[in-house]
Amino acid sequence: MCGIVGYVGQRPAVDVLLRGLRRLEYRGYDSAGVAFFRGSKIEIQKSEGKLENVEKLINQFPESAEARCGIGHTRWATHGKPTTQNAHPHRTGHVVLVHNGIIENYQEIKRDLVHRGHQPVSETDSELFGFLVFEKMESGKSLKTAVAESFREVTGACSVVVMSEKEPGTVVGVRNGSPLVAAVDPKGGVILASDAQPLLEYTREVVFLEHGDLVLGTSSGISFSDLKTGATVSRSTSVLDWSPAALDKQGYDHYMLKEIFEQPSAMVDTLNGLLDRASAESFPLAAQPAVELLNTAERIVIVACGTAWHASLMGKYWLEKWARVPVSVELASEFRYRDPAIDKRTLVIGVSQSGETADTLAVITELRKKGFPTIAVTNTRGSTLAREAQAAVFTNAGPEIGVAATKTFTVQMLTLLCFAAFLGKRRGQSADADEIFSQTLRLPHLLSGYLDVRSPLRQAIRETAKKLLNLRGFFFIGRGYCFPLALEAALKLKEIAYVHAEGYAAGELKHGPIAMIDQDIAVIVLAPNDAWREKTFSNLEEVKARGAQVLGIGNPRDESLRKVSHFWIPLPEMEIHESLIPFVLTPVIQLLSYEFAVLKGTDIDKPRNLAKSVTVE
Ligand code: F6R
Repeated sequence: MCGIVGYVGQRPAVDVLLRGLRRLEYRGYDSAGVAFFRGSKIEIQKSEGKLENVEKLINQFPESAEARCGIGHTRWATHGKPTTQNAHPHRTGHVVLVHNGIIENYQEIKRDLVHRGHQPVSETDSELFGFLVFEKMESGKSLKTAVAESFREVTGACSVVVMSEKEPGTVVGVRNGSPLVAAVDPKGGVILASDAQPLLEYTREVVFLEHGDLVLGTSSGISFSDLKTGATVSRSTSVLDWSPAALDKQGYDHYMLKEIFEQPSAMVDTLNGLLDRASAESFPLAAQPAVELLNTAERIVIVACGTAWHASLMGKYWLEKWARVPVSVELASEFRYRDPAIDKRTLVIGVSQSGETADTLAVITELRKKGFPTIAVTNTRGSTLAREAQAAVFTNAGPEIGVAATKTFTVQMLTLLCFAAFLGKRRGQSADADEIFSQTLRLPHLLSGYLDVRSPLRQAIRETAKKLLNLRGFFFIGRGYCFPLALEAALKLKEIAYVHAEGYAAGELKHGPIAMIDQDIAVIVLAPNDAWREKTFSNLEEVKARGAQVLGIGNPRDESLRKVSHFWIPLPEMEIHESLIPFVLTPVIQLLSYEFAVLKGTDIDKPRNLAKSVTVE
């Protein structure tokens, strides 16, 4: 996902920008660039590929060391391919900007700009913002006013940092969704970035901008204002007093929390590894041995354990719907001792974060030896599973330290979604593939907009956990995509909060477990706006009539769900294809179990009796 750094002050700006961008590399990117003042003119150097390419360009400009003001960017392509032309910073006349996030109404904006005689040169939505600022500055407005007014014309969750040759030595940033953090440089000046990492080298006192904040930095100081009203606002400084261990956790109280919040960047890195990002196709799997195996599969068996099994169950929904290939999802520990009736046209996929889970490994090793086509989907390069399977596909979530799987669940689902959509396209079955693909690319941005430590969503989850804490038991129910999520939610709650929870297909409750329902049982109903919502709603009424404490989780505008539920967690507002809703719901169920565990005071990162990698059967 894109990373932003901006600097104005006494230090060599280009050095600050490049060091900052290095610290943001973990977010994943496919092009990079910096812009800096040479006198009153702005120089831009950018390139597709890695930051090293930009450094080489900069090295040809010894005078860049003199610059004291600039902005830098690492881009992960969503609108337009990862080319140098699409890389940031973008210039419109004297205005130069970097942008992180999505401008939803870019098509309307582009149409109007072209109508007014402008010619955008890139394929990005970001560049368009520069035209809006440019026009306003040309009519006599200051950079700050022009940025604020331009922002009122765009919809979507994003942040920008802008400079203009008309106001050398000023950087203006806005946060309207994607995070932006600012700090005063103790040596004089201001540094801005998409997260706190680049700032920590200079100071521990940082300001996390709120949604709708505009920040103006010059070498003499910083000021904040409200984007809508223009009124000055004061923002308190957070002191990131992080010990080396906390620094490792980047200030989060637990690795699990950090890893929940890392899901957008884990998705970016996974997509970068899986897809051919230069292709104009949707879901273009990068050429690799697994692709041929997928293409020729007539039937698929997925084997996994625990959370990986839940991700695999989700994969079945997409694979069957789009690729029209029969899929069975098997618990590895059961499958290995069964005598399953499968033939060599069956592709066997082993899904495992660690790549060392004994049961999953045993199935893949044995079937590969018998000549079955096998693929490992794993987060661990060099793992035994990756070596044993005929082909390996890596989920690039980075190390997952918390024992409870969180970000690896998301990227396992994402990988299977890409397999399904890719095969669906090949087999002519997925009519919406282009739309789903562009939404998939935008998902990490959208998720990072609401996955914020201080977000109202997190507060709502925390408050709800407090109210439900002392109940006797918990049922998570859902249909369709929400069924595997219900299973995963219950597993998370059990393993880190040590409370009894079960996940059920909502339609199954009345076949037995409903006998348990009384006022001491919570039923957590996963009912987003999808094809199954009405049916799930009826199941909610059944348990409510029997006294259950109902927590509804659904669309923020679902008034009837809100009214009928005793407790209510609205999902973040976003227009999204229903097949992608699991990615929005996942952090919510993870945070719910996390908040329970905090209240219970359990050892969240190392829950009792559990191991990160289960190498015994
Ligand atoms: C739950 C969890 C476990 C693992 C399972 C499989 O949070 O972490 O259920 O998902 O032990 O592990 P891997 O994916 O390494 O095969």
